[in-house]
Order: sequence, then structure tokens, then C-alpha cells
Amino acid sequence: MVSVRVTVLSGAGMSAESGIETFRDAVTGLWERFDLDELASPQTWRRQPNVVWAWCLWRYHLVNSVEPNAGHKAIADWQRRADVRVVTQNIDNLHERAGSAWVAHLHGSLFEFHCSRCGVEYHGELADIPEPVEAVDPPVCACGGTIRPGVVWFGEAMPDEPWQQAVAAVALADVLIVVGTSGIVYPAAGLPSAALTQGIPVVEVNPDVTPLSDSATVAVHDTAARALPGLLERLDELIG
Ligand code: APR
Repeated sequence: MVSVRVTVLSGAGMSAESGIETFRDAVTGLWERFDLDELASPQTWRRQPNVVWAWCLWRYHLVNSVEPNAGHKAIADWQRRADVRVVTQNIDNLHERAGSAWVAHLHGSLFEFHCSRCGVEYHGELADIPEPVEAVDPPVCACGGTIRPGVVWFGEAMPDEPWQQAVAAVALADVLIVVGTSGIVYPAAGLPSAALTQGIPVVEVNPDVTPLSDSATVAVHDTAARALPGLLERLDELIG
């Protein structure tokens, strides 16, 4: 039997029920005086690397302290019956921790680090900050450069490899399931219309209406943790 090929495109709403607020909501407390665009920018990194690093470490700590939700677990569970690929805009590792084996991170990962000067990967110690602090000096590479997280900051180019993987994963899918994304940040937001153009049905899971809702083959207006368990079994009924 040939198994169904399912590609998932996830965004911040995927992790909301795990307790990770969206980036925009996360600029609170110590970092309130910054705009998100400012905090997650190469310019601020150059001017105040210790502030950006402290914020990253705090996000890292937060993600480590939460668990994958029923939505992440459902997607991982589908692998027993389907050929599943996950394309995510999220920089957390909750898909992997739930057990998904194929995950492409379009906007990088909060769990990979490299030198901002020579690019070498960093696997050394990270300061443990159970409470947010305002400034922490980033580790220094042997070349003298500062260590940065492998995330895509505003204005930076997206890495090419995960993007090519995402385009291919969409092209070979029998169905694209789009979960928890507002569908406004390109190029990721272009993947659902690319699927539709290729005749691939698109199922949207989002409690709210988005720019995709009208054109999606089906829009399931519910949360990830509620809608995803059982969705694979309902696919035939949903998309015919
Ligand atoms: N289940 C499913 N969807 C949800 C849930 C939930 N429990 N809670 C919220 N949502 C939906 C919201 O309705 C919204 O449409 O998730 C979406 C989150 O949208 P954004 O915060 O814009 O997240 P995303 O689409 O991932 O943003 C894209 O923008 O900030 C940059 O680089 C960052 O990767 C991010 C990109």
C-alpha cells in the first residue's frame, strides 16, 4: 500500500497551546522598551549583543520548560500511517521533541548556534538563566567573533536549503495542512497557493480567519491541539 504524503506548514499558533506566546507577545517585561523588529535585528546584535543574547537565552529557557502539545504529538503520530514532512516557521524544537523525524526550519532554530564572524558551529556551554536578565555577554569563538543563535533575524536572508526542501515537500504532497500561521510573512505564506496551483488540496487549521481561509480547500476553525488529533482519519471526508 502506498502511504499518503502529508506536508504540514506550521506557524506560531502551533506552539500556542504549549504555552509559547508569539514573538510579538513575548516582548514584555525587561524588553518592553524594544520593538520586536529592533530586538530580533542584526543592527541591535551589532550594537548590543549582550541584550539580544540575554533575550535569546530567555526564549531558549522558556522553550525548554514547555512540552509539545497534542497537535505536535498528532503530527508525529501520523508518521505511523503516512509519509509526513513538517515545514515550520517556528524556531522552537517542539515538532522534533514530539517525535517528528523530518522538519525543515524556514526561519532557523533557537537550538543551533554559530560564530557570527567565521560561521563555525558552537556546541559549548550556555548560561542558565531561569529568570530573565537584561544583558549576558555571548560566548566568544576561537576567532574572536561572537556566538549567535541560528535564527533568521528581520532583514536577513532565509537559508536556502530548508526553503528548497519546503518547496519540494509541498510539490510531492497529496495534501498540505497549514496550522497556526497568519499567512502574511513571505515567502512561507506563498506555499499554500503554490500547492493549490499544483492541484494539491490545502487544509487550514486556525481558530481565526486568515488571508488563506477563503482559498483553502477546507478551513477548520479550531486550535491545533483540538483539531489535529483525528484529522488524518477525517481527510477523505474533508477533501473528498
Ligand atoms: N492553534 C492554531 N492556530 C492558532 C492558535 C492555536 N492554538 N492560536 C493562535 N493561532 C493562530 C492565530 O490565529 C494566527 O493566525 O496562529 C497564527 C499566528 O500568527 P503569527 O503570530 O503571525 O505567526 P506566524 O504566521 O508563524 O508568523 C510568521 O513572522 O514574526 C515572524 O519570523 C516570525 O516565523 C514568524 C513569522
